[in-house]
Amino acid sequence: MKLYDVAIVGATGLVGRKIIEVLEKRNFPVGKLRLLATDKSLGAQIDYKGKTYDVEKLTPDSFKGYEFVFFSAGGPVSKEYAPIAVRSGALVIDNSSFFRMEESVPLVVPEVNPKQVLKHKGIIANPNCSTIQMVVVLKPLHDRWKIKRIVVATYQAVTGAGQHAINQLEDELQNVPVRYKKFPHPIAYNCLPHIDIFYDHGYTREECKMVNETKKIMEDPTLKITATCVRVPTIGGHSEAVNVEFEKHFEISEVKEALRAAPGIVVQDNPQQDIYPMPIWAHNRDEVFVGRIRKDETVKNGLNLWIVSDNLRKGAATNAVQIAEEYILRKGS
Ligand SMILES: NC(=O)c1ccc[n+]([C@@H]2O[C@H](COP(=O)([O-])OP(=O)(O)OC[C@H]3O[C@@H](n4cnc5c(N)ncnc54)[C@H](OP(=O)(O)O)[C@@H]3O)[C@@H](O)[C@H]2O)c1
Repeated sequence: MKLYDVAIVGATGLVGRKIIEVLEKRNFPVGKLRLLATDKSLGAQIDYKGKTYDVEKLTPDSFKGYEFVFFSAGGPVSKEYAPIAVRSGALVIDNSSFFRMEESVPLVVPEVNPKQVLKHKGIIANPNCSTIQMVVVLKPLHDRWKIKRIVVATYQAVTGAGQHAINQLEDELQNVPVRYKKFPHPIAYNCLPHIDIFYDHGYTREECKMVNETKKIMEDPTLKITATCVRVPTIGGHSEAVNVEFEKHFEISEVKEALRAAPGIVVQDNPQQDIYPMPIWAHNRDEVFVGRIRKDETVKNGLNLWIVSDNLRKGAATNAVQIAEEYILRKGS
């Protein structure tokens, strides 16, 4: 089997560590592995398949000979270093939002728009975590009943904001001085209707990402979608209440059937037995979980769904590794 040399930028972060875990779990054909971070992480070591790797400092020379470079170190690092990695011959899979809306950069969720992987010019973008889990569920429904409008409210875990966000929640829960103030208000025992910056029109950047990225991934600029994104004090796993209006009539049984048949989805919908998706059940799983599937009788062809997934797995690391797998598969065929 051909092996691929892989570098990970941001290897010590929440997403970077998950990428390493997922590469191992999925038995990705890794040849050489290079783990990159800042000089603060020099001396750190991370295990992969029983071998210990030193974390190295990212420099412009870090990529020579590497075939896949996963970036998970934030937008400014991707902006500066992804083009350098591309020039050195690597395929970049970028977790930051920096390149996502660029026309020449495919934005890929393999269950939804896998063919896009071959259209890259060196960079493939991994979408926003809350967008990924929503489009995995909506795509098979859109294909069959054509979506007219989506209204989504998210309940997003603190891991979505990186390691310092976990530290803030833990310090607040333990009632000790807060080491890092990642959020503008306490997050323990609280909910913040505020993820990323606010724009003048009143929406946040996270909400705009959900709107714009959904249209790009579903390849339908006419989709109507509006979002409210909320940070909640769960550690991992994003939840979403999604209301959808379709053009065509559907039966709930048909919706469940379509979702069960679609890749990457687990239907968890037995409210009589208290079975519905929850972050604690989605933890460390790659699938997207959907439940509370019911008609919205206030509009024609309306549907309500509750969607949960692990934001660090399918929302970040798993989707990124799947992109690389999809690329290898399609390029080889
Ligand atoms: N968390 C999520 O659910 C999620 C989901 C999708 C996408 N993302 C995106 O993934 C990226 C990383 O998120 P995260 O949650 O993993 O953040 P994190 O836990 O704060 O980790 C950040 C990582 O980036 C490294 N880094 C920062 N500045 C660097 C620089 N100048 N040069 C080299 N390495 C640098 C850090 O290295 P040191 O340890 O040495 O500081 C660390 O490894 C962000 O773009 C985020 O938006 C996150």
